[in-house]
Amino acid sequence: NTARLFPMRSKSCSSVSTEPNISAVHPANQRPKDRKMKILAIESSCDETAAAVVENGRCVLSSVVATQVEEHKLYGGVVPEIASRRHSEAIVGVVREALERAELTVNDLDAIGVTYAPGLIGALLVGVNFAKGLSLSANLPLIPVHHLRSHIASNYITNPELKPPFLCLVVSGGHTHIIEVTDYTKLRILGKTRDDAAGEAFDKAARAMGMPYPGGIAMDKLAETGNDKAFKLPRPTVDGAPLDFSFSGLKTAVINILHNAEQKGQTVNIADLSASYRKAVVDCLVRNFLHAADETGHKKLVIAGGVSANALLRRRLTEECKRTGRTLYMPDLSLTGDNAAMVGAQAYYEYLAGHTAGMELNACAQRSIDLG
Ligand code: KG4
Ligand code: ZN
Repeated sequence: NTARLFPMRSKSCSSVSTEPNISAVHPANQRPKDRKMKILAIESSCDETAAAVVENGRCVLSSVVATQVEEHKLYGGVVPEIASRRHSEAIVGVVREALERAELTVNDLDAIGVTYAPGLIGALLVGVNFAKGLSLSANLPLIPVHHLRSHIASNYITNPELKPPFLCLVVSGGHTHIIEVTDYTKLRILGKTRDDAAGEAFDKAARAMGMPYPGGIAMDKLAETGNDKAFKLPRPTVDGAPLDFSFSGLKTAVINILHNAEQKGQTVNIADLSASYRKAVVDCLVRNFLHAADETGHKKLVIAGGVSANALLRRRLTEECKRTGRTLYMPDLSLTGDNAAMVGAQAYYEYLAGHTAGMELNACAQRSIDLG
């Protein structure tokens, strides 16, 4: 496994002073008023084993990510059993490294946060069971965290001034949602994909074009050099549900273009096809997100998830928000993919809301974001 080690302390550490006092929310908590809450967070929902220490949900003291992507590349996608085995091998080292980088021991911690849903069940179980063991042995509260909520929370680290309410476009490998975040732990789904997620749509089309897994990143780079008007592609809508998405037809259109060219012995300019396809996906994302903003009146727009790294999506939303007098919040590129810093951020707010678990905690492969 390759460990990607992120900077130990974020610049925003000292600038957040408005957080509620923990002991006021949890009377049982004997912590002095100014004592900051340090959460060790663990993430293992897919193909990254990650641990981080985060203070008061906003300040990252350490963040360690061990990625398995090179191994899964050989198979063109994540192989669940390999993912579980690699998490098992990596987790102790990754957690130890996160504590060392934060210059802390388990005794300095106030709680353990862990991703428990949604994701690959065997992968989630590794993190959940490790967190349960640590919570039991160190007598620390255990905080279950929903993976997509944590993607949204990556924005609390990058944007210290950001607070709910806001509207969020969550675009990852497995999910595409428009979410109204009314409070840190109160979320409402306004729209979602009916078939492929945005990241999946990028990965599947990229694979058809011959790019290695996960193709979304490679396609984004190549698209920068292509002509986005070279291929005419649809902008699918869902009848009667203007905030929902459908990407499978778009992906099929690309596959048909490639097959037809192959049958005729023609070559396809992959940069042009990437640019045209990326523009079509981003047009759909931006169209529905702005429609939701118009409908709800939200002026704070937030993006999150792996696909929020997409260069065109960032540019287009920046322009649109500027034009329409809205404020756009985006996570730092180092926090768009799976990591545990974002889990530590969300765990803090789940804890303040009283959302802790006991040793009965189990992993869930599927769970809606609004349920927590
Ligand atoms: O959020 P994430 O790291 O994992 C999940 O929770 O699914 O998202 C991974 C997804 C992959 O599909 C990957 O191809 C996509 O995010 N992705 C991108 C870009 N960077 C990552 N898609 C488009 N453009 C990018 N720059
Ligand atoms: Zn993710």
